[in-house]
Amino acid sequence: MNQMTNVKLEQFPYSEAAKKALARKPQLFIDGQWVDSTGGAAIEVIDPSSGKVVSRFVDATNDDVDRAVAAARRAFDDGRWSDLPPIARETMLHKLADLLGAHADELAELEAIDNGKPKGMAAAIDIPGCIGMMHYMAGWATKLGTEASEPMAMPRGTFHTYVRREPIGVAAQIVPWNFPLLMAVLKIAPALAAGCTVILKPAEQTSLTALRLADLIAESGIPAGVVNIITGNGHTAGDRLVRHPDVDKVAFTGSTEIGKLINKTATDSLKRVTLELGGKSPVIVLPDVDPRVAGPGTAQAIFFNSGQVCVAGSRLYAHKSVFDQVLENFVEATNFWQPRASLDPAGHMGPLVSDEQFNRVMGYIEDGKKAGASVAVGGDSPASEGGYYVNPTVLVDVKPDMRVVREEIFGPVVVAQRFDDLDEVARQANDTRFGLAAGIWTKDLSAMHKLAAKLKAGTIWGNCHGVIDPALPFGGYKESGLGREQGREGVEAYTELKSVIIQL
Ligand code: NAI
Ligand code: MG
Repeated sequence: MNQMTNVKLEQFPYSEAAKKALARKPQLFIDGQWVDSTGGAAIEVIDPSSGKVVSRFVDATNDDVDRAVAAARRAFDDGRWSDLPPIARETMLHKLADLLGAHADELAELEAIDNGKPKGMAAAIDIPGCIGMMHYMAGWATKLGTEASEPMAMPRGTFHTYVRREPIGVAAQIVPWNFPLLMAVLKIAPALAAGCTVILKPAEQTSLTALRLADLIAESGIPAGVVNIITGNGHTAGDRLVRHPDVDKVAFTGSTEIGKLINKTATDSLKRVTLELGGKSPVIVLPDVDPRVAGPGTAQAIFFNSGQVCVAGSRLYAHKSVFDQVLENFVEATNFWQPRASLDPAGHMGPLVSDEQFNRVMGYIEDGKKAGASVAVGGDSPASEGGYYVNPTVLVDVKPDMRVVREEIFGPVVVAQRFDDLDEVARQANDTRFGLAAGIWTKDLSAMHKLAAKLKAGTIWGNCHGVIDPALPFGGYKESGLGREQGREGVEAYTELKSVIIQL
């Protein structure tokens, strides 16, 4: 069922600013300079709305990675960043936030061209999210202090003790393609606030906005070498970074599979590790909620960013007394989420990021059908002039052991199931190796809080989904991750504690 077959899925023209960014020479940002790679390999930029190659960037060599790490190491060890007055660091980070704001339109367009997300969504969500995160974390630069602490076992007045909070050192940060700039900023902001230096590697599918971010970093006054941005493949450049002896901390967002690999590799030198990984987040609709609210609300939970969201509400559980009405309203809401080219101003959902992701998602839909699931809506791909479009899809008649119910699909595909009582749905919701997020739709306060306590997930949303705030810790239970980002915890994850004990 494809309700809007007459929409022409063809990419719109690029602006002059975007054309200029696409035409730039492939280079790496190391030690405050744009430099050539020591090798000649490049990676193509493909616009997912057309499937066409529109630019290329460097596939960093081992030598390139080593140069970037050496620059970050020098910049950390000589204190050019960490020894600055904290207010100087805070001020430069606010400046960087302002520069992101000044280039918001271009950055939103580049994100749309690179990732396939609607430019309007990037302008409304991704770019303001970056600016908010940068301002929030900037504030921590002046607030992470040394604490005095009284010893318990020594007579009073005989010792002076205190606890210093110090930056960990050099952080390697590896980010995915679903929110390219937002993930990059979410990573560098707390590291810089804490006084660390950084090597950032964006995903091989989406490096355009990270490269523009490097320009803005240079303009912000942040000293050379403090942030180094290198593009390249994960299994080569990414792996080299994780193994590098001069890297003190690795922060990664991406697949659970690669997250586990990174954690194993980093263990050899006991690098500090933060991991934000996959999810299969449940969304629970209790019988008191108006299906005309719950239908569109839970549809947004999965279809935003074409379902390529770690916290996507990919398992819908509606109470059996309202299941049919919720499903009807959900299916109707898919009209709003019909795929469009990313620069189409009328679009709310774009194509998937890549051919690989398209095949993965279509493969899951086929697998679900073969296993006995029925398609309530979607399940197919609309006609288009190239591009990786998938229609919003609802699968019903699913069983708990099906792969479509158990595995992260990372596309616009939801599995919808009925439940009877709270204990049962909490058990079903927790029957997963993931634990990133969960949604609860009800006005019944008692049920809301009971369920919020029972669900094993790092974030619980009530009557909303996907709301993220820089001040609130974000991360996963179980195989959804390790550690927390954002909030005080997020910046403290880039610090070490040092107890100083002095006999007087
Ligand atoms: P991925 O985990 O392979 O890639 C994410 C980042 O890790 C990229 O920058 C990549 O270059 C890097 N990377 C890959 N292999 C590496 C290695 N051996 N060492 C160091 N860095 C490495 O994710 P991929 O292949 O793009 O997507 C596969 C699936 O992962 C998706 O279908 C989705 O289920 C999940 N995913 C989850 C994300 C999240 O936000 N939690 C984001 C992206 C993907
Ligand atoms: Mg991969």
